[in-house]
Order: sequence, then C-alpha cells, then structure tokens
Amino acid sequence: KEYGGMGKDNLSYAIEIEEISRVCASTGITLAAHISLASYPIFAKGTEEQKKRYLTPLARGEKIGSFGLTEPNAGSDAAGTETTAKKEGDEWIINGSKRFITNGSYADVIVFTATEDKTKRSHGITAFIVEKGTPGFTPGRKEDKMGLRGSNTAELLFDNCRLPDENRLGERFEGFKVFMETLDGGRISIGALALGIAQGAFDRVVEWIKKKSEEGIPLKKDQYIQRTVSDMATEIEAARHLIYSAAEKKDKGENITKEGAMAKLYASEIGTRVAMRAIDIMGYDGLTEAFPVERYLRDIKLMEIGEGTSEVQRIVISRQILGR
Ligand code: CAA
Repeated sequence: KEYGGMGKDNLSYAIEIEEISRVCASTGITLAAHISLASYPIFAKGTEEQKKRYLTPLARGEKIGSFGLTEPNAGSDAAGTETTAKKEGDEWIINGSKRFITNGSYADVIVFTATEDKTKRSHGITAFIVEKGTPGFTPGRKEDKMGLRGSNTAELLFDNCRLPDENRLGERFEGFKVFMETLDGGRISIGALALGIAQGAFDRVVEWIKKKSEEGIPLKKDQYIQRTVSDMATEIEAARHLIYSAAEKKDKGENITKEGAMAKLYASEIGTRVAMRAIDIMGYDGLTEAFPVERYLRDIKLMEIGEGTSEVQRIVISRQILGR
C-alpha cells in the first residue's frame, strides 16, 4: 500500500486473476505478468529508491511491467542464461536477447537476468531493471500465438545496453534465486489463470447442456453427461482448493515452492482436460467461433507450457520431496 498498491493479500489477488481469466485469459496473463513477475521482485528485493521509482508507478497502474528470463537457448533450463552482463566501472553492459516475454512490446519497466560467466550457471546470474527507451534496449519480434492472442508476447533485445549499477536488482550473482522465488508466487497466479479458463469453459458447456435435448429428452438426463459434468466440477473445485491454500500459505509468509508448482501443474492439466471434454460434449458447436469454448482450449494449452512446463513443475515438486 505504501507504494501505491491496494494492499490486498495473495488470496484476493488469485481470485481476481481467476475471475478475469474466466472471461478473458489474455487480460488475466497481462495482469499476472505485471504483478507477480515484474512488480513482486522489485517489492521483495528492490532498494527503497527502486521501489519509489519503479514499483510505485507499476502498483498505481501508470506503467506496465514485464519479466525477462526465457531465452532462445534457455527455456526450462533457466540457469543456462546466455545474455551477458559485463561490469565496466559503475556501469553494466548488457548483450543478448530474451524470448516469449509477456508484455514485452510495450512494457515500461522490465526485470531481467544476465550472466557474468555462463560456466557458473545459476551462480553467475544477476538480476537487473531496464526501462523502455534505454539506449541499446529494444523490444523485438512479436509472437503470433495459438492462444491468448490478446496478450502480447515478444522478444527483448540488448545491444551494448549500458545500465548504471543502481539498476541491479538484489545482490550480484543472486539473480537466479530472485527469479526462482518470483516464479514460486507466479505459479499460483498461472494456476489461478488456468482455473479461470477451466471455470469459463465449464460455465459455457453447462449453459449449452441445459438448452439441449435429443429426441425430446433433455440432455442433462443422459448418464454420460451427468458423469462427465460431475468429474469436471470436482476437478475444478480441487484445483481451486490447491490454489487458494497456496495463496493463503504465501500470505502467512511460508515457503510455497512445492505448493505453487502443484497449483500450476494441477490447474493447467485439469483445465486442458475440462476444455477438451467441453468440446467433446458440444461436438461441432464446440469447434466453432459461435461459442468461446474453442478459445478456452487454445488459451489453456499455454498454461501447461508458459512460466515453466508441467515437467518443470514435476521437477520442482519432486525435489521438495526427495531433495535435489
Ligand atoms: N527459491 C529460492 N532459491 C531457489 C529456488 C527457489 N524456488 N529454486 C532454486 N533455488 C536455488 C537453489 O537453492 C540453488 O542454490 P545453491 O546452488 O546456492 O544451493 C540454486 O538456486 C540453483 O538451484 P538448482 O540447482 O535447483 O537449479 P536448476 O538449474 O537445477 O533449476 C529448474 C532447475 C527448477 C528446472 C529451473 O531451471 C526452473 O525453474 N526452470 C523453469 C524456468 C521457468 O519457469 N521459465 C519461465 C519464465 S517466464 C518468462 O520468462 C516469460 C514470461 O513473460 C512469462
């Protein structure tokens, strides 16, 4: 609140992302990347000066934020970052590129990672903040995606971009940890996004079923339909519990590495199943643009891939249980 935000908790935030994504997941991801991925690390690790300068306009909604981790050769393997940071006096010289960055084309404030020594993997990485218009930094090509087509995804290009040391976010060589911690919370919001999409697809198919009858018998009396609708509703509710309980744990300041990954993994996988089943029930109607269910199916697939694939979530969860 002291930096211009609304002072709400993580649970309220998860519900907001869910409700927005129930109608428009493109708007949901735009907001989630802005809050969980761009604003959170500045809130958690930024200096007082950085919070005043960057976080306040982000929290007030005056500027848009973005998070640059993924690269052409460093997707799931985030420690393989190739964008370089070279220290020259009090300045850093950044070279390289980021890919698949939500809000990339128009973000005003971007947090990103770069390495001083690739052979050191996660221990060579530092996090930085760059502003739109900084010489040597430009957004690159926009992606033409299958789903979430209302959300912007673009490259970020660094060509001898000079940043003062005051743009370093957190300690030198701590960038990987800052970004992993950020992703822990980000995964709750991607779970909430997936939950909203699943609920939206479910709402649409239920409306459709209620209006439909075959040979004079309402479709809702069909036992296959009853069974499928029950399973979909149960899975959606289970996902909701995982997400809300992870958000509540974060509100208590507890570690949510495992819970965040579980929330994202489960919600995105059941979301895909729910959207597929909705189309199976609706048949050809489900494939047409007359109903938004085909859009929900295209949108949900990104939830299993973006902000860490389902397999990455399984790595994170298993390491929390079995150790590294
Ligand atoms: N919190 C704090 N520290 C953490 C951490 C966490 N959640 N996870 C790992 N660390 C620390 C470890 O403790 C370790 O520290 P020490 O070496 O000092 O002991 C260090 O970080 C390295 O950890 P690992 O050895 O576990 O690292 P790894 O290379 O094996 O990581 C991985 C594996 C979990 C799969 C990781 O690479 C990962 O999460 N990858 C997926 C990245 C991802 O989700 N990308 C999408 C980003 S979204 C984007 O860029 C665009 C957008 O707009 C959405």
